[in-house]
Amino acid sequence: MTYKNIDVYSLIKPEVLKLRNIGVETANLDCRLLLSKSLRRRESLYNHQNISISESEIAKFHSLIQERLNGKPVSRIINRRNFWKKEFALNDETLDPRCDSETLIETIIEQYKDKLQSLKILDLGSGSGCLGLSLLDEYPQSEASFIDISLKSLEMVKKNALNLGLSERSKYINLNWKVDGWDEKLITIEKNIKYDVIISNPPYIPTDEIKTLKKEVKNFDPFVALNGGKDGLDAYNSILPKLINIIKSSGKIFLEIGKGQENCVIKIATEYGLSLKEYKKDLSGVTRVLIFMIK
Ligand SMILES: C[S@@+](CC[C@H](N)C(=O)[O-])C[C@H]1O[C@@H](n2cnc3c(N)ncnc32)[C@H](O)[C@@H]1O
Repeated sequence: MTYKNIDVYSLIKPEVLKLRNIGVETANLDCRLLLSKSLRRRESLYNHQNISISESEIAKFHSLIQERLNGKPVSRIINRRNFWKKEFALNDETLDPRCDSETLIETIIEQYKDKLQSLKILDLGSGSGCLGLSLLDEYPQSEASFIDISLKSLEMVKKNALNLGLSERSKYINLNWKVDGWDEKLITIEKNIKYDVIISNPPYIPTDEIKTLKKEVKNFDPFVALNGGKDGLDAYNSILPKLINIIKSSGKIFLEIGKGQENCVIKIATEYGLSLKEYKKDLSGVTRVLIFMIK
């Protein structure tokens, strides 16, 4: 195989321009990540670094660029995404974690300052496991259970837990919160032990709005991870009535919500024995996290 030595920037420059021309704001970073992937490297590349690259690696790079030009997000091409302090592997049934959801982690850390306390955590609708695993990483004496309707996404949580050295404190549970008695099943699986912390970023986009989302979202994030039903509130309507049965009396529930959903979600929670303790805005000033406790 013949290799050539080349400066990263001279290799990626034409591709950066193509991506910029279709409006990709992160064109340079995207190209460097895709080049790293083509070279099977984990570390990021610098623009003015010299690399040794074979013809087949160059061909691979160009085919990945073509996928990006077709609208596939980089995280989906390289199947990984950084979230909070770690990197998470993704598959086609996991949501691509959003930095808005880091607000959930930030909020829990503010509420539970002692990192050495032992918390029993539930990540409801776990996707890649980015929320619960980030918490396990922050709280080394704690344990988490991960619930998802998708077996394939639970496989990814397992893989991420293993990669991050967190599998001994993780439990994976395949449940559908739309099925009656899901809370009772869970209580049996957990041998009657209730949770200190319940964290959830459920699907909350109204069905009709999904087709108006960016191509990168509507074509590549799983529908089941986005779809909140007609008014976006289906998941809250299934989850909230049962939380009182599975949370400890002093426990706290941290829910991510979509823009403008706070009044509706607070109304549902209040109907089912919970009261709002606090709320937290994300970096754009949108109310993103609601904290509930038993009344
Ligand atoms: C918005 S995603 C959140 C994923 C991850 N927690 C995150 O923040 O990146 C919602 C998750 O809920 C899961 N889900 C959707 N409907 C469900 C149901 N009826 N029962 C259990 N899990 C469900 C989806 O598979 C998806 O993983």
